[in-house]
Amino acid sequence: MSTVPLFKDDWTPQTWRARPAAQQPDWPDADAVDAVLTELRGQPPLVFAGEARSLSDQLAAAAEGKAFLLVAGDCAESFDAFSADGIRDKLKVILQMSVVLTYGSGVPTVKVGRMAGQFSKPRSSPTETRDGLELPSFRGDTVNDFAFDAVARRPDPQRLLRAYHQSASTLNLARAFTKGGFADLARVHAWNQEFVASSREGQRYEALANEIERALRFMQACGIDLQDELQLHQVDFWVAHEALLLGYEEALTRQDSLTGDWYDCSAHMLWIGERTRQLDGAHVEFLSGVKNPIGVKLGPDVSPADVVALCERLNPKRQEGRLVLFTRMGADKIADALPPVIRAVTAARHPVVWASDPMHANTFSHASGYKTRRFDDIMRELEGFFAVCHAAGVAPGGVHIELTGENVTECLGGSDEVLGEHLEERYETMCDPRLNGRQSIDLAFHVAELLRR
Ligand code: PEP
Ligand code: CO
Repeated sequence: MSTVPLFKDDWTPQTWRARPAAQQPDWPDADAVDAVLTELRGQPPLVFAGEARSLSDQLAAAAEGKAFLLVAGDCAESFDAFSADGIRDKLKVILQMSVVLTYGSGVPTVKVGRMAGQFSKPRSSPTETRDGLELPSFRGDTVNDFAFDAVARRPDPQRLLRAYHQSASTLNLARAFTKGGFADLARVHAWNQEFVASSREGQRYEALANEIERALRFMQACGIDLQDELQLHQVDFWVAHEALLLGYEEALTRQDSLTGDWYDCSAHMLWIGERTRQLDGAHVEFLSGVKNPIGVKLGPDVSPADVVALCERLNPKRQEGRLVLFTRMGADKIADALPPVIRAVTAARHPVVWASDPMHANTFSHASGYKTRRFDDIMRELEGFFAVCHAAGVAPGGVHIELTGENVTECLGGSDEVLGEHLEERYETMCDPRLNGRQSIDLAFHVAELLRR
């Protein structure tokens, strides 16, 4: 017996419920979950359909090499680490990176924060055992608490409401910052100059920073008032997260009154993770029916045929700007694993944005016990990604980075040389290790060099 709808026209925000949904929490009280989802259905949307359409337009440009996508933010947002300063510092780094990338690529940077909704985490094991005690794994602040005790680890659906409200506050502040003068080009450039002046690799970057300086002066000389030009003060800033908890996503899915189309109004863009991209699974079913731009993570073992099938399923009409493929294959594997995937997708004439997540397949456990990543491996995967894209004749369309604005010591290397013995000093992530502010800007300068080659 199959209740699975065969035709796309049968899609509703609920059809995913007839499919196997990986990585969902074991909520102890189903009625409590239903009550929360009913409440969420009555809450205002966090984003509007028209915004998601604007992002699609910008992504269509990225697919053709006429824009470059930067997705960046925490691995997992946290209830405890929620502060205006934290949001500001993250935005600051993202804006700094995007000025460097824009200059390097010569095309606009499409800025997407992994924030205002990036709370839920897929886990490799449903339980975690410490000293003989087995408890449910931490699945993100939307589900349970990070602390390792039985009460804290019990899934609590009230957390979905808290995540919704924190997302609303985060998005509100991000909108205020990016439209209210904080994103001023001259100011962001000044921050980058400070970085160059205090960076060990400063000289290498100085040339690029000086060119940006000259470009700004040139604009001024041409009569463009840098203080007055709205384009230079305001930027578009979008948010995205992994669409993992489908009940939450369903509750925030609304029909657009202009077009009649369905949009998941929890974020501008949603992505499907490496662990939930099963063709017949609930996540692909749910996201196939919403019109937002969709990302899919692709690990090193994905088959080219599966990628084409995913493209067919998620974008049967081959709309530009609909689909971003985030390759996360590992520094050692990308050169072999990515070319056949690109060939298959190109042969099937699917317009996609090719983007690199150089973080998730380069994670390892350091001898000190900390989960970490090497800056050099991250750069090696990016270099491999650019080389493969160039050889295949497709545009390297973007990058997807886990970072924070804080001065954490979670990833090794970078121009400030975080070493193994430094990891314990400021290891603050609840999930994956993030680049700190300086490592992130370092990375942007490196990628700018790759973009100019
Ligand atoms: C993530 O982006 O945090 C993540 C879990 O990625 P992936 O699905 O690629 O492993
Ligand atoms: Co992560």
